[in-house]
Amino acid sequence: MAAGVDDRDRVEYHMYKGVPLPSHLDPKDMDDIQDFTVRDDDVFIITYPKSGTAWLQRIVSLLHFGGDVSKTDRKEQDELVPYFEQKVGDSAAFRKLTEVPSPRMMKSHLHFSHAPVQLTQGKGKVIYVARNPKDLAVSYYHFHFMCSTLKTPTSWEQFLQEFVNGEVSRGAWHDHVLGWWKHQDQPNVLFLRYEDLQKNTRKQVEKVAEFLQWPVTPEVIDKVVEESKFQKMATNPATNKVSGKEAKAGIFDSSKGTFLRKGVAGDWKSHFSDEQSNWFDTFYQEKLGPTGLHFDFQ
Ligand code: PPS
Repeated sequence: MAAGVDDRDRVEYHMYKGVPLPSHLDPKDMDDIQDFTVRDDDVFIITYPKSGTAWLQRIVSLLHFGGDVSKTDRKEQDELVPYFEQKVGDSAAFRKLTEVPSPRMMKSHLHFSHAPVQLTQGKGKVIYVARNPKDLAVSYYHFHFMCSTLKTPTSWEQFLQEFVNGEVSRGAWHDHVLGWWKHQDQPNVLFLRYEDLQKNTRKQVEKVAEFLQWPVTPEVIDKVVEESKFQKMATNPATNKVSGKEAKAGIFDSSKGTFLRKGVAGDWKSHFSDEQSNWFDTFYQEKLGPTGLHFDFQ
């Protein structure tokens, strides 16, 4: 069962090097991750939660299999592109990767300072996806109701305040995104935005293929664009997480929310009051303004 509002206090986050993390992240695992041996052709999809991780998992796995859904959809997406630091069952996913053939594809929500040191030093490849913080906060808010390792919000107002304060799982969004943004010029980092994927998926898919140096034909790109559409993913058991590993482990409760919820840009307008919107803009303008990182909020 996923947590209800009454269970809120039973969900604990622990602080790891100043960042609140959920219980499925073991501090010992987090320490060991830093020494993880990275391969040159490893692919890490890294995000702050709710930025488009699953979308990139789908794009990368489709590219890998030349758009062949009979190969990508044989297993749940998270089996093809495991959640690197997550511990479901006896051991964290990263500990089981030594035997996996190259190229290994992984998803992660690690901060730059918590990532494998070799990765931060330029080995392997990182696709970092960022999403405008207003839509992200809305998506994260809804996700908290269906995910039992997160504290169920008591109200949108309360959640938004905790999000801005960095009192949510994974901490302050701006710390995460800016930690990676500072390294966006590293040759092993490709920095993408969710809103650009929405506007021109094909162009972003081509960028990903070029960055990974995976030769693909225009027909494969067509197939990747088609099969990674929101509607396709929302109705596909390999990607929609309705009865996947997390549902079986009692982490996701699909009666309380939908993982592939709306998949649009601009949904924040149906949640933010004018006052909240102005306050939020001022806060993030201060954090992001000098960094050159901009987002499209439409
Ligand atoms: S998680 O839990 O952090 O891995 O979630 P993540 O996948 O990063 O984010 C989930 C949001 O991404 C949306 N999504 C998509 N949007 C458009 N097109 C495609 N194909 C797609 N796939 C996932 C998903 O719907 C969540 O956003 P919201 O706004 O809640 O709908």
